[in-house]
Amino acid sequence: MLNTARNSLQRNAANISAAASRNSSFWSGVEMGPPDAILGVTEAFKKDTNPKKMNLGVGAYRDDNGQPFVLPSVRKAEKLIMDRALNKEYAPIGGEGDFCKESAKLAFGNDSSVVKDGRNVTIQGISGTGSLRVGTAFLSKWFPGNKVVYLPKPSWGNHTPIVKHSGIDVGAYRYYDAATCGLDFAGAMEDIGKIPEGSIIMLHACAHNPTGVDPTPEQWKEMSAVIKARKLLPFFDMAYQGFASGDVDKDAFAVRQFLDDGHNILLSQSYSKNMGLYGERTGAFTVVCADKEEAARVESQIKIIVRPLYSNPPRHGARIVTEILSNPEIRPEWLVDVKTMADRIITMRTKLQDGLAREGSVRNWQHITDQIGMFCFTGMTPEQVAKITKDFSIYLTKDGRISVAGISSSNVDYLAHAMHAVTK
Ligand code: LMR
Repeated sequence: MLNTARNSLQRNAANISAAASRNSSFWSGVEMGPPDAILGVTEAFKKDTNPKKMNLGVGAYRDDNGQPFVLPSVRKAEKLIMDRALNKEYAPIGGEGDFCKESAKLAFGNDSSVVKDGRNVTIQGISGTGSLRVGTAFLSKWFPGNKVVYLPKPSWGNHTPIVKHSGIDVGAYRYYDAATCGLDFAGAMEDIGKIPEGSIIMLHACAHNPTGVDPTPEQWKEMSAVIKARKLLPFFDMAYQGFASGDVDKDAFAVRQFLDDGHNILLSQSYSKNMGLYGERTGAFTVVCADKEEAARVESQIKIIVRPLYSNPPRHGARIVTEILSNPEIRPEWLVDVKTMADRIITMRTKLQDGLAREGSVRNWQHITDQIGMFCFTGMTPEQVAKITKDFSIYLTKDGRISVAGISSSNVDYLAHAMHAVTK
């Protein structure tokens, strides 16, 4: 007993003298940063002890019991991969070759002439964010035009930080009309028509995040024409292929239309949502080039960017994707899984709208079912968002976006009640 007390006293004395002889900290000037606009919501949600709490912040699919969902097709692919007892060697800098080929075909179509002619450089990225980051780093080093990326207003909260982190400026074009909770097509066309020639324009391929508002096929064609006339470089962010309509080909319409119209696009793909591979960080970045020879040069430079950033990408997620896309038995099962997720989200939209009507809300909530994809841009103000979080423990981003994928049959009425309470 006495010995223990003596030891502990000695340790304390040693700690005090070590602290006194330490140099002043290098980090005393480091400022406290704000929490992330999207992932910070999850941190706040986790601290809440209310059993009725809901996390509608981050876009992550939940099943109807509110649980994370591993797709049955993913489980099946994983089992096959495990049975093969593959090694854990490094992947090439640009990732798995088959994965890249399958990713390009998924985006551009099985018969895509771009893929057949070898005009695409596709590398495996660290999901959508990492693909965008490599893409903007490539633009920063090699884009010969006006190094400004024009984003829709509003855009995904991480777009601006990614672009700026690569040392490129951001501009904006009108996109969302708060009055109609729909697309401001005239505003978008007017603004795009004024973007300086030779700039870069970011387009959400489908299921626009955060608004859930997409152009119609006809509107895409008009946008393609004005983007071509302005000689802009279209950079598509496709994080939700399959999630908008439940059909991966339909959701790739804009990307394929732009290729048909002769644009040499850039593309970022993510498998976080459509395969539920969030934590596996699996995606792809593509540059469509003029020809094979140009593609080889571009690829060599992208590898030079990737190597000092993270050397080469992780393998497991890419193996799952490759298995799913190339296995004729699993691929159709995956397409069913995607449709199941998309359909559940659509059902939740209807239930929420119905619930609001039952609560007696006289507001127009038509946009809840008009908007598509994972999110609904509710139109709630930052004050209403703060109130719904404080009074009901319902967590969402300040801009009023809710992840519809986070709603379930058992809490949709609670949400409707809370939304009516803070908006009436
Ligand atoms: C979202 O917008 O919630 C998702 O894309 C997740 C993320 O990384 O922000």
